[in-house]
Amino acid sequence: MRYVPLFCLREGMMLGNNLWGEHGELILAKNTVLTREYIKSIEKLNFNGIYVEDDLSKDIQIIGIITDRVRAKTVKCIKNVFISTEHQRGIKDFKEMQQQIESIVEEILNNSSMVINMVDLKVFDDYTYYHSVNVAVLSIVLGSALGLRKEQLCELGFGAILHDIGKVFVKKDILCKEAVLSEDESEEMQNHSILGYEYIKKVSNVNMSSRIGILEHHEKFGGGGYPNNLKEEEISLFGRIISIADVYDAMTSDRPYRKAIIPSEVIEYIMGCSHSLFDPDLVNVFVRKIAPYPIGTCVLLSNGLSGIVLKNYESFSMRPTVRIFKKDDLEIPPYEICLSDREFLNVTITGVF
Ligand SMILES: [Fe+2]
Repeated sequence: MRYVPLFCLREGMMLGNNLWGEHGELILAKNTVLTREYIKSIEKLNFNGIYVEDDLSKDIQIIGIITDRVRAKTVKCIKNVFISTEHQRGIKDFKEMQQQIESIVEEILNNSSMVINMVDLKVFDDYTYYHSVNVAVLSIVLGSALGLRKEQLCELGFGAILHDIGKVFVKKDILCKEAVLSEDESEEMQNHSILGYEYIKKVSNVNMSSRIGILEHHEKFGGGGYPNNLKEEEISLFGRIISIADVYDAMTSDRPYRKAIIPSEVIEYIMGCSHSLFDPDLVNVFVRKIAPYPIGTCVLLSNGLSGIVLKNYESFSMRPTVRIFKKDDLEIPPYEICLSDREFLNVTITGVF
C-alpha cells in the first residue's frame, strides 16, 4: 500500500484501505477500483490523498499505532464528554474514558515498532474529538519513550485527551472566528486552559498531574505562554509533553483556514522551536519516534530518483529505506536503497508526491 496525494490519483488505481466518512460510515471499500466519479467524491469529501494498492507497494503494510476499533470507541467517548459538558449535564465519572485511555496505553506498549507512522487520513469534521484522541496517542507515545510507567501513561493520556475541554466554555463565535482575535477575544480564548482545569477539578476526582497537564498545555519552554507565564522545568512534564503533541497534530490536520502540513515540515518546525516553545530534550525523543516520512510516502530524492518509503529507523529518522521506481519521471525496474548507507549519504529527500 502507498499514499497517493489527491492530485496524483488516476482512474484504475485500487483503493488500499476502507475509506470512512465523518460519522464512521463506509464510503468506499478496500480494493475498489477508482473511477472518475469516485475521484471526484474523494475530492468533495476533502481528503488530501488516499492509500492505493499496486504491484509496486502490495507488500508494504501500513499499521496504525492503535486499532481502528479502539480509536472509534475513544472518539465516541470524548464526544460524549464534550457534549455532556456543553449541555451542563456534567460528567459523574470518567470511568469509561479511563478504560479507553488504558486500552490505548496497552496497545502502544504492545506495539513493537520503534518508529511511529501516523497514518490517519484526516477528513473528519469532528476535528476536536479526533484531535483530542490524537493528542492523547502522541503524548502516550512520547511518555512511553521517556520510560514512564503504565499508571503514569494513563494519567498523561487522560490529561491529554481532555486538554481542550475548557473550550466548551468559550463563546462559539470566538472559537470559530477565522479572522485575528481582538485582545479581549484572545484573552477569553486563552482562558480555556484554566477553565478546563477548574471544571475537571470540580466534577471529578481526577489525579492532580492530569489536571496540571490541562492547565499548562499552552505554557512555552522559553517563557511567555499562558496562563502562568512559566518557563523550563517550572512547567510540568505533562504540560511540556502535551504541548508538543497538540502542535504536531494541529499542524498535520486540515483546518478551515489552511491545508494540512506534511509531517516532515511539521517536525522541522518543532525542531526549530526547541527551547523557545518546546523542551529540547523532549523534542529530541519526539523526532526519533514520529516518522517524518511515514511508510508508504512517495519521496523525491536530490539525485533525480523517486520511490516509496519502506522502513524508518529510530536513530536516522530522515534517512529511511526507499524502494526506487522512477528516475527523472521515467519508470524504472524497482530496487531498494537505504539513505543511511555510506554511498547514499550525499542524497537527500527534497519533497513528497
Ligand atoms: Fe488548548
